[in-house]
Amino acid sequence: MLDEITQLRQRAEKELEAAGSPAALDEWQARYLSRKGEVKLLLKSIGRISDPEAKKAVGREVNLLSRDLEERLEARRAGIREEERARRLEAEKIDISLPSARVARGRLHPVNRVLREICAIFQGMGFQIFESPHVETDEYNFQLLNFPKHHPAREMQDSFFISEDLLLRTHTSPGQIHAMRACAPEPLRALLPGTCYRNEAITPRSEIQFHQIEGLAVGPGVSLADLKGVLTEFVHQFFGPDRKVLMRGSYFPFTEPSVEVDVECILCGGAGCRLCKGSGWLEILGAGSVHPTVLRNGGYDPEEFTGFAFGLGIERIVMLRHAIDDIRHFFSGDLRFLEQFA
Ligand code: PHE
Repeated sequence: MLDEITQLRQRAEKELEAAGSPAALDEWQARYLSRKGEVKLLLKSIGRISDPEAKKAVGREVNLLSRDLEERLEARRAGIREEERARRLEAEKIDISLPSARVARGRLHPVNRVLREICAIFQGMGFQIFESPHVETDEYNFQLLNFPKHHPAREMQDSFFISEDLLLRTHTSPGQIHAMRACAPEPLRALLPGTCYRNEAITPRSEIQFHQIEGLAVGPGVSLADLKGVLTEFVHQFFGPDRKVLMRGSYFPFTEPSVEVDVECILCGGAGCRLCKGSGWLEILGAGSVHPTVLRNGGYDPEEFTGFAFGLGIERIVMLRHAIDDIRHFFSGDLRFLEQFA
């Protein structure tokens, strides 16, 4: 009988070692440890032993066997769970030593960066941003700005007409009328940034689309001195605190008097160089006192209100700042160009 127990133990242990899955373990458990399993059968057969001493000895052995096998089963289950876990970890392994896929991050176009920078400077002086349409009527783009039909000053702004009366705006100045009509008769300080379009030959210096920022201030007693103060402050913040500003007489139909504003050359500091063509000055914008007719068209009484306006070309300023020699880069979509402005 004791031999039988030893054999059973050996067989059971060997099979347990061989059982490699939870299902095989269940099967093994049913075979040996269930109510009809071999260990139970063995236990029942003890009844047939007549010698009480032998019965006791065999009983103890069988109980020992039962307990051992239970323990081994638990250990084997834990082992298989561990093996299973290790296998899964191996299968799902992520190699964190590999560099991750680079996410290509976009950035603002250099024109938009400068546009925003300039807007922020004027916002700091109380100018409020307005938007106005890119497609304008002849009336807004020209007539209300004191360019009647066939006025020779229209020659300066060759336009893309969509119909007899509709065109792509050639400057941001029609925004002056929109802003005035929205605000009159209250005083206003408006900033109108955006794209403009002109029928130009495309060359390193001219494009058919470009950006301007229009500035407009209207109020009782607003003068050319205010314009000079505001623009000087802008130049100092944008180009540097020591830059001199020069106002030269000019002509625009919608300002009177009209000026062109230069900043001391940022390359040579005024001595004269290739960039400023020896003059020491770089032109950055057109400006002037708002023409009384334009004030009236905007809804203000020119006896009571005066104003100043300026129009700043953005591409030219970006080109000056970054020493870019060809305006066509801005709209080429060439990443080699754009990525230089991180
Ligand atoms: N609109 C003018 C241009 O595009 C610039 C300008 C704006 C001049 C405002 C005077 C006042 O050339």
